[in-house]
Amino acid sequence: MRRRRSTPWLDALLSSVQSITQGFLSPLPYIGIDLGTYQTRIWVPGKGITLREHTMIVKQARGGTHEFTAIGNEAYQMLGKTPPEMQVYSPLERGRVSDFDGLVYFLDRCTQRALSTNQGNYKQFNALISVPIGLTEVEEMALLEVGKKVGGRQVHLVEAPVALGFGLRMPVLENVGSAIVDMGGGTTEISLLSLGGIVLSKVLPIGGHDANEAIQNYLRIRYGLLVGEKTAEEVKHTLGSITTPQDFVIEVNGRSIENGMPKTIKVRNHLFYESLYPLFGQIIDALRDMVEETPPELVGDITKKGIVLTGMGSKFIDLDKYIQHELGVHVASSEEPADRLVKGLGWLIEHPDIMRRIAIRWP
Ligand SMILES: Nc1ncnc2c1ncn2[C@@H]1O[C@H](COP(=O)(O)OP(=O)(O)OP(=O)(O)O)[C@@H](O)[C@H]1O
Ligand SMILES: [Mg+2]
Repeated sequence: MRRRRSTPWLDALLSSVQSITQGFLSPLPYIGIDLGTYQTRIWVPGKGITLREHTMIVKQARGGTHEFTAIGNEAYQMLGKTPPEMQVYSPLERGRVSDFDGLVYFLDRCTQRALSTNQGNYKQFNALISVPIGLTEVEEMALLEVGKKVGGRQVHLVEAPVALGFGLRMPVLENVGSAIVDMGGGTTEISLLSLGGIVLSKVLPIGGHDANEAIQNYLRIRYGLLVGEKTAEEVKHTLGSITTPQDFVIEVNGRSIENGMPKTIKVRNHLFYESLYPLFGQIIDALRDMVEETPPELVGDITKKGIVLTGMGSKFIDLDKYIQHELGVHVASSEEPADRLVKGLGWLIEHPDIMRRIAIRWP
């Protein structure tokens, strides 16, 4: 059998023809992308969430230039273990694009993975991407451009709290106030929704990342123990993995400040909360401000319906009860805190009339 010799220009031509015809012959899939500082999730029609990857890339220096070599969970595993010529980092900083090329590489790999099927890969798609509140127009345009560069034919943006409201099955379009606190990796977004829009919102530059730092500082100051961010993250996950109040001990391995040698300590779980209360306090203060600023007609809704706490950064035992106690307003933690936003994007994609009304569009 004769094989066709691989010719780069012919391959490129065939690939372009394939991606053009793909759009005409079958409708492009419309996907939802939650570009989280900590984790990126993609929703694909008919399948649901097909991708969850750490928002991380690996950049390797090679003879005066560099290339990206890995993304996602694979990159995350390398954190803190790389030689000097390799860098592991996030191309987003608190929801904003901090490395354009890195984000293009990351998202391109993610969308291809999310869309790959037994029948082949889609080179193009339409996308609804959630954006944090408070981005400038330039920052939003940068995200749109990333979406287009990785194969998005039509790319639309939606403000994350609105999509989150749909993901949480709140009455976003109705004439009632819905209050949400989303604690993510890099930010905590507090918002009050009503009639399909955001009545009030506040973005606090604190999230799970700051909880890691607080744990690291606590161990250094209180126990003279130096630990890396990954160890602090593991401690936090242990704290966040229990669902009923209980007392237990966490063993932490690090390095002694005194003599630089390996050191292991045991700490009761509740002691770590000492380091986290200042962070929780900032969120409570911001919530108090929000309630004070809320128009009188909507305050009653917050009192009646309470506040929903979501985002993986909120996964601490009884954090909802603690905030409720401090504020005197009912607070409930959502189930599936990691997935609500991308599910909300999926819901909007399945309801195009509503999506069209609330998405931020550019021609
Ligand atoms: N089991 C857990 N217990 C406590 N914290 C956790 C747990 N799992 C993840 N986290 C923390 O939650 C944070 C990430 O939350 P989430 O996945 O909601 O953020 P994101 O959507 O990627 O970020 P953002 O919304 O800020 O852009 C991280 O700091 C992570 O360490
Ligand atoms: Mg998030």
